[in-house]
Amino acid sequence: MNDFRDADKIWLDLDLATMSNSTASSNLATSFVGYSQGYGVRQGMALAVKNGRISAIAPMVDIDEALLPTANIAGRGGWMTPGLIDCHTHLVFAGSRAQEFEQRLQGVPYEQIARDGGGILSTVRATREASEQQLFDLAAPRLRALMSEGVTTLEIKSGYGLTLKDELKMLRVARQLGEAFPIQVRTTLLGAHALAPEFATNSDAYIDLVCEQMIPAAAEQKLADAVDVFCEGIGFSPAQCGRVFKAAKNYDLAIKGHTEQLSDLKGSQLAASYGALSVDHLEYLDANALQPIVENGTVAVLLPGAFYFLHETKLPPIQALRDAGIPMAVATDFNPGTSPLASLRLMMNMACTLFRLTPEEALAGVTFHAAKALGLSDDSGRLVVGAPADMLLWDIKHPSELAYQIGVPALRQRIYQGETSYV
Ligand code: NIG
Ligand code: FE
Repeated sequence: MNDFRDADKIWLDLDLATMSNSTASSNLATSFVGYSQGYGVRQGMALAVKNGRISAIAPMVDIDEALLPTANIAGRGGWMTPGLIDCHTHLVFAGSRAQEFEQRLQGVPYEQIARDGGGILSTVRATREASEQQLFDLAAPRLRALMSEGVTTLEIKSGYGLTLKDELKMLRVARQLGEAFPIQVRTTLLGAHALAPEFATNSDAYIDLVCEQMIPAAAEQKLADAVDVFCEGIGFSPAQCGRVFKAAKNYDLAIKGHTEQLSDLKGSQLAASYGALSVDHLEYLDANALQPIVENGTVAVLLPGAFYFLHETKLPPIQALRDAGIPMAVATDFNPGTSPLASLRLMMNMACTLFRLTPEEALAGVTFHAAKALGLSDDSGRLVVGAPADMLLWDIKHPSELAYQIGVPALRQRIYQGETSYV
């Protein structure tokens, strides 16, 4: 009871989806025995916050309300979940790819557009021309859209600069967004996203630039938390990605990979063998070659928005990932080319409708599994004592509604580091 009397803020009469001791990871589809068995549900609870962390969770029957300072009661009733975590975005960029969308619907494939100098490179041209302030102003409304749905942590990648100066510029903007808004931003250097036009005839020389200049500078200036690659025919070869991973490790940066999005180059296995936090996309991942991913505890990040927007038909090997016990995260991949969709709730819905995740797996995918994909602490993305007080209070009847119903406002409070902020 003292934990509640001394708290900075208290919420009462809550139903909690703690996502702790949740069955959502492997074997869910077979072990799920009832409507409310998962989600780590605890009903009729009170929750207290102190110094930006969850300081106490207790059943209402143990709470004597008469002893609580009423001024500290911040909410009553409703469902509380951890804050949502969008663990894969390309939020910072300039320009638009609406015409490319038009072109694709006239029949030109995504890879063809890229090979003709459009696609990622058209965004690179616009991003290079933009100032830091312009990039910040363009990213802000995208960020607000994600926040308004309950995102409290997101990852932002570079990758539309492809010069030392422009990659660092993008990363600085990402860091500034995290300082200006009540949200945690993790940054990822994606220098190896596409071949810079200046290196058109020598992609190894471009990889030299990534390894010898971009990674050291991003690390020294503390602008990147991780390093990512696009391992693909229109991106970089496994050998080149391996060089990038090695350089990242030399600078103690975490590793991630865009792998098996359009073809199977075994980039996921390669990234995992370097200890990758996550491998992302995975439509062409070989269901019979998951061992390195299992052994390294690498998270499989599913990006149903890109699958949908590219009209992809090959599904990631979801059941094999599930059977192998590989944690699955879900993210927006927000970007101008393959996923101009700033809604993590929509991604949860698509993960269910397109990839056949359960709503519980989808919520795990945007909470504690997404936290793992970003290398956050083990209690991140869960409602447990000691965890960061990033929480959402919803007007819903059950947490499965978060993946089920789209477009109807249901978020009553967004709480970041213990403070109610921005809905
Ligand atoms: O995650 N796959 C590579 N990168 C992005 C797309 C980038 C773009 O088309 O601008 C992705 O899908
Ligand atoms: Fe991406």
